Amino acid sequence: MIIKSQKSWYTSENDVTPEKLYLNRRSFIAGTASLAVTASVGMGAGNAAFAKNDRILAPLPFRDSGYGTAEPRTPEEAVTSYNNFYEFGTGKSDPAENAWRLQPKPWSVKVEGHVSRPGIYDFEDLIDMAALEERIYRLRCVEAWSMVIPWIGVPLSSIIKKVGPTSGAKYVAFETLADKKQMPGVKSFFNVLDWPYREGLRMDEAMNDLTFIAVGLYGKELPNQNGAPLRLVVPWKYGFKSIKSIVRMNFVEGQPKTSWKKSAPSEYGFYSNVNPEVDHPRWSQKQERRIGEFGRRETMMFNGYGEEVAHLYADMDLRKNY
Ligand code: MTE
Repeated sequence: MIIKSQKSWYTSENDVTPEKLYLNRRSFIAGTASLAVTASVGMGAGNAAFAKNDRILAPLPFRDSGYGTAEPRTPEEAVTSYNNFYEFGTGKSDPAENAWRLQPKPWSVKVEGHVSRPGIYDFEDLIDMAALEERIYRLRCVEAWSMVIPWIGVPLSSIIKKVGPTSGAKYVAFETLADKKQMPGVKSFFNVLDWPYREGLRMDEAMNDLTFIAVGLYGKELPNQNGAPLRLVVPWKYGFKSIKSIVRMNFVEGQPKTSWKKSAPSEYGFYSNVNPEVDHPRWSQKQERRIGEFGRRETMMFNGYGEEVAHLYADMDLRKNY
C-alpha cells in the first residue's frame, strides 16, 4: 500500500536503517557467511561485485514525494549487485561485473511517433533535475523475488507532457541501447533476446501517478547496472517492464512488441501485472522471496498498488490479459 500524503506510519529517512550504517556494516560483515543478503543473493563477499564498476556516482538533490512503503529498504549493496540486465550477461552478478563499459554521459533519447514535439532530446532536456523526487517502491521480479528500493526521478507523465502526445498516441514503446562495444551480452550471433530490449505501456498506464522514470537510487545517480542514466519503474508490474538505459520512446497507435512476450508468448504477456492468481507456466507467483530476508511472503495483487491502478483494468480478464 503506498501513500501520497504523509501518514503516521510512513517510513521516513530517519526510521529505516540509514544507508551509511549498511555501508559501514558492509566492511564488518564482508566475508561473513551468515550475512542474510549475501547468502540469499548467492554471491561471495559483497564488495567483490564493485571491483570494476567504480564510476563515481554524484549525489542527487531530491524532495520526499510522500510515496513510501513501511517495509524496510533492501540494502543498497543487494540492489546494485543482484541484477537483471541481459545486455551485460544473464547471471545475476554479470551486470555489476560488466556494466562499467556503459557510457551514460552524454545521453540522448529519440522521441518520435504521435507527438507534437518529436526530436532527439538530451538527458538534461528531458529530465528536470530541479524537480527530482524520491519514491520508495516495491519491485517484484517475475522470477518470484522482490526488493524495496528508494528511487530518485520524475513521473513519466512530466516527460510525456513535455513532448505533447497527439490523439493517435495510444501506447508508448521504449527501447534500450543495444551497442556491442559497450554491452558484452549484445552479440552478432546466439543472442538470448532479440535486441534492442523493448517494452511498452498503454497511455493511461504511462500517465498514471505511480509510473516513474528513475535517474538515481539511494540518493545518488543510477549505477550502470541498474539502468543508467534513466530507466522506467512501473511498481505494479513485474520487474521486466522496468526497461533500463532508454534511448527511444515511440508514441504509437497499436500495442507495441515487447522483448519477453516476443521471446516466449506463452509465458509473458504485454500487461505483466503482478498477479498471485496467475501462475507462470513453470512456477507459482503466489509467493516471493524478499532479497535480504529468509522465508517467503505472500505476493500481493498489483504488488500492493491496487488502490491506485486496479481501475485501469476494470473491464479486462486478467487471466487472458496476463
Ligand atoms: N532492461 C533491459 N534493458 N534489459 C534487461 O535485461 N531486465 C528487467 C528489467 N529491465 C532488463 C531490463 C528485469 S527482468 C528486471 S527484474 C529489472 O530490470 C531488474 O532491475 P534491477 O536490476 O535494477 O533490480
